[in-house]
Amino acid sequence: MSTVTENAALLPASLREDFPILTNNVLGGQPLVFLDNAASTQRPRQVIDALSQVYERDYANVHRGIHTLSERSTEQFELAREKVRAFINAEHAHEVIFTQGTTASINLVARSWGETNLKAGDEVLTTVMEHHSNLVPWQQVCQRTGAVLRHVPLTEDGRLDMAAFDLLLSEKTKLVAVVSVSNTLGTVNPIDEIVKKSHDAGALVLVDAAQSVPHTTTDVRHWDADFMAFSGHKMLGPSGVGILYGKEALLDEMPPFLGGGSMINEVRLDGFTPAALPAKFEAGTPPITPAIGMSAAIDYLNRVGLEAIHQHEQILVEQAHAALSQIDGLQILGPAPEHRAGLVSFAFDRIHAHEFAQVLNDRYGVAVRAGHHCTQPLHKLLGIAASTRASFYLYNRPEDVDRLVEGIAEVQQMFAPKGRKRRRKPQ
Ligand code: ALA
Repeated sequence: MSTVTENAALLPASLREDFPILTNNVLGGQPLVFLDNAASTQRPRQVIDALSQVYERDYANVHRGIHTLSERSTEQFELAREKVRAFINAEHAHEVIFTQGTTASINLVARSWGETNLKAGDEVLTTVMEHHSNLVPWQQVCQRTGAVLRHVPLTEDGRLDMAAFDLLLSEKTKLVAVVSVSNTLGTVNPIDEIVKKSHDAGALVLVDAAQSVPHTTTDVRHWDADFMAFSGHKMLGPSGVGILYGKEALLDEMPPFLGGGSMINEVRLDGFTPAALPAKFEAGTPPITPAIGMSAAIDYLNRVGLEAIHQHEQILVEQAHAALSQIDGLQILGPAPEHRAGLVSFAFDRIHAHEFAQVLNDRYGVAVRAGHHCTQPLHKLLGIAASTRASFYLYNRPEDVDRLVEGIAEVQQMFAPKGRKRRRKPQ
């Protein structure tokens, strides 16, 4: 085992008992092994109970009524905002905007900040490892404003090429939009360094933190990121809720994105004045119950401990990386374990990713994601159409990795042409 996990410990297996879905499913005659956590995670009983409790006892619309249920819902909804603030160490609760998810958060910045501040000749710098949700909104806003979108390339081993970043960053760069952990490569990007260099060059930074906030301690003030986006459903919470963090001064300057109820101070027939933060960016009925569920998920994660979760996943990813590295013909995407978070994607030259996912599911009870994982440009760059991805979370065990590896070996046997020796492909 490498030095990354020398002093690390696994989380107790008993924690799996909190997740009913893990024991309620037998696939292919085997208990479910859920390794699709980068797409969406499962919920512990504590989150499910929190959701039921709101619906059974406390639910009403927020910020609208003076009746008891509206007061209760509002109190819990605003408590959830405060929990998120503390979880990422933001300075003010009103810097935490509830959205539908990471994609909505990034679109909000692209439309509100981007369309107001970008003009022809300006540049937005992103990377080739971005999820489509941190690419397409910038393509759209660049089309509208005449700004130019540039992309930081990769090093040979699947990390961000920081030498190229230094060359691409210039006084023309107005915003750097970068992912903290690649959902396909698992690469952990040096956000501290990126923010410092970007600020020195006069650019703002938006961090797509969907794959890091659920798995490790986040301190947005330490990063000094200007905007940060992440989702509830990737951190044991419900789908339908995400967060946009933005620095107060920036959010204050930005125009509202969606118009409607809640986001106004006053409406006249000929115009309106927007509400103060955070309501200015929360038009319509917000994701009330999902936000309260997210708050329960944060309580759960805090009880387990983000550092302990991080160590647990590092042990699993090292185990998976080491085992998969032994398989002939398999190409592991992305860097060595010390530069990656808890996921591993791989491809074979002659077997489509879907074949793996199907056999793993049907015969081994292992749920993985197969396809392009919303990173088509990255797959194209790597010269592959699709990959299979195993992504870990706090309830996964070393035995899950064993089952994955066993299943992969069988798929390879099933699809390998007889008598042909497979050669390892370089990364
Ligand atoms: N962004 C999610 C994934 O990587 C959906 O699978």
